[in-house]
Amino acid sequence: MSHESARPAHAAGVLRLGGDLPVRRLGYGAMRLTGPGVWGEPEDPAEAVRVLRRAVDLGVNFIDTADSYGPFVSEQLIRKALHPYPSDLVVATKSGLSRSGPHGWRPVGRPEYLRQQAELSLRHLGVERIDLYQLHRVDPKVPLVDQVGELSLLQQEGKIRHIGLSEVTVDQIRQARTAAPIVSVQNLYNLANRSSEDVVDYAERENMAFIPWFPIATGHLACPGGPLDRLAPSHGASPSQLALAWLLHRSPAMLPIPGTSKVAHLEENVTAALVKLTESDYDELSRAV
Ligand SMILES: NC(=O)c1ccc[n+]([C@@H]2O[C@H](COP(=O)([O-])OP(=O)(O)OC[C@H]3O[C@@H](n4cnc5c(N)ncnc54)[C@H](OP(=O)(O)O)[C@@H]3O)[C@@H](O)[C@H]2O)c1
Repeated sequence: MSHESARPAHAAGVLRLGGDLPVRRLGYGAMRLTGPGVWGEPEDPAEAVRVLRRAVDLGVNFIDTADSYGPFVSEQLIRKALHPYPSDLVVATKSGLSRSGPHGWRPVGRPEYLRQQAELSLRHLGVERIDLYQLHRVDPKVPLVDQVGELSLLQQEGKIRHIGLSEVTVDQIRQARTAAPIVSVQNLYNLANRSSEDVVDYAERENMAFIPWFPIATGHLACPGGPLDRLAPSHGASPSQLALAWLLHRSPAMLPIPGTSKVAHLEENVTAALVKLTESDYDELSRAV
């Protein structure tokens, strides 16, 4: 077996978060490791641990999670499966969405809440410093500079290394940057929803990572009979691989984090890094969905 097929994530290339933290450009999103509605324990905790370990085997070194996934279930599973962490593994987490039950999410951006959640994530992940800490949602009731300002204080205290944002406009990124250096933006983006095009372009221009969530549209783009099914055979790739290869081709700033609760889907998704699209393949996929 060649090195690339054993560790396909290597083929996605490397992006440097904040200029100093190298991550391979195909990561793993750990939201699907919880129970239904992103609440509570998963139905198959042993498979969740296998998924995380297999991701690292496949060369993935960027894992995205949040305090609110479970809550805390996803972070605790990451610790259980991977601690002590490989030296090159980057675990990104977030705070700013409180949970009221399955499917219930509410933004809370009060500085003291963000600080408390950061302290809890440090404990749950078992780290002294969080590699990338993302503001999960902007709380409209709190000035954005106060929310990012608290993350900046945590950074100055050495509790977080880099700061990222999630679900923001270009104007909000600009405003946040007056309070702290921002290294990444995580917005909804995939072949079927490109409403954040301007944010992708801004991130690329400003040397930030763009982390698209729902990269395979919650599985819609991977479905048999879905919009990519017809094109998959001629590209020698599965529909989910085409959706991810399209993202990787879209911009060198792109860092997709497909989520799954199953090793088989993980292997399929990470192997997307080996699928290289030509410009005409890219255009065909862009038009098809
Ligand atoms: N910042 C934010 O506000 C935000 C919001 C949502 C998500 N996120 C992050 O983004 C990550 C990715 O989003 P996501 O997991 O919600 O959506 P996604 O990656 O677009 O899709 C995941 C869904 O697709 C299915 N799936 C995955 N691979 C598949 C394959 N090869 N074939 C068929 N089905 C497949 C999964 O089911 P199985 O489990 O059955 O594979 C799961 O239901 C999350 O894990 C999380 O880290 C962030």
